[in-house]
Amino acid sequence: MNLKGRDFLTLKDYSKEEILYLLDLAEAFKEKKKRGIPTDTEHGKNIALIFEKTSTRTRCAFEVAAHDLGISTTYLEPASSQIGKKESIADTARVLARMYEGIEYRGFGQNIVEELAAYSSVPVWNGLTNEDHPTQMLADMLTIREHFGRLEGLRLVYLGDARYNMGNSYMITCAKLGMHFVACAPESYFPDPKLVAECEDMATLSGGTITLTENVTVGTRNADIICTDVWVSMGEPDDVWEERIKSLSPYKVTQEIMDNAGEKAVFLHCLPSFHDLKTEIGKKIFEKYGINEMEVTDEVFESDRSLVFPEAENRMHTIKAVIAATLGISVPGIL
Ligand code: CP
Ligand code: NVA
Repeated sequence: MNLKGRDFLTLKDYSKEEILYLLDLAEAFKEKKKRGIPTDTEHGKNIALIFEKTSTRTRCAFEVAAHDLGISTTYLEPASSQIGKKESIADTARVLARMYEGIEYRGFGQNIVEELAAYSSVPVWNGLTNEDHPTQMLADMLTIREHFGRLEGLRLVYLGDARYNMGNSYMITCAKLGMHFVACAPESYFPDPKLVAECEDMATLSGGTITLTENVTVGTRNADIICTDVWVSMGEPDDVWEERIKSLSPYKVTQEIMDNAGEKAVFLHCLPSFHDLKTEIGKKIFEKYGINEMEVTDEVFESDRSLVFPEAENRMHTIKAVIAATLGISVPGIL
């Protein structure tokens, strides 16, 4: 498998075999890290990390992964760079590609990361856009595979705003990997029909299925994986909160939903999550709307069936695999 020079913008661009290869590579890196075996063979290489939105996991995962490979990083945020205000994406791409071996981008439209990639002569990695979050998918799939020992044939149910990055990405990933994807949401929160059609074509080839339902009981029955995301994403205006709370409250992940799914079901969340009142936004929403949990109850979040912290750790191992594979790094003893 040779992924050298490839961008990583969406899993739509990757075959099932390539995605599984990245998971195998991540697993091998994880094993080395756990055993304390160094993998820092790439001293002298540099990558740029552009963040137009905030981040804890993705930024830390890229920085630690790069460091573990011996690669240096430069963190760029809008306030401290010319991106967008004084310099176009096309010019930024051509400048950074002269200094760096790879560029990570987190920001708004998928068209922006695509433009960056079109003008960059080095690999571009999507660290989240409004439409897609492909590095998160690798972490989630690794976590699921570690737990169930397989991916094909599993039923993954996503509750909440299925039109946005997490809902889209789960649908794409399940369609690629022969999994059964269910979006459980009000109809107005179903994914874009064009993307659904694309994913249905992919699912036909892989043996997966795509289901969209408003019915929580039917949708979550026999699920292997129950997942959700915040009701309001980064970059969205504050005035959507009221409508989201009203429409998405019936889709909050509760113990009842986990029980309906069945004993084997696990819970995933990309994080950050509003499951208690320990956040600034959580407190503000409580004061205004009187709710102390949003997309998931604290009970489910803190339960044994919640894999959210292994999932967060796997961001780093999987991002390391993406960097290594697309930069063509061969680490002794790894694939
Ligand atoms: N899950 C995720 O992307 O987290 P951050 O926003 O903290 O990077
Ligand atoms: N949908 C969320 C995901 C955060 C990782 C957002 O875009 O803010």
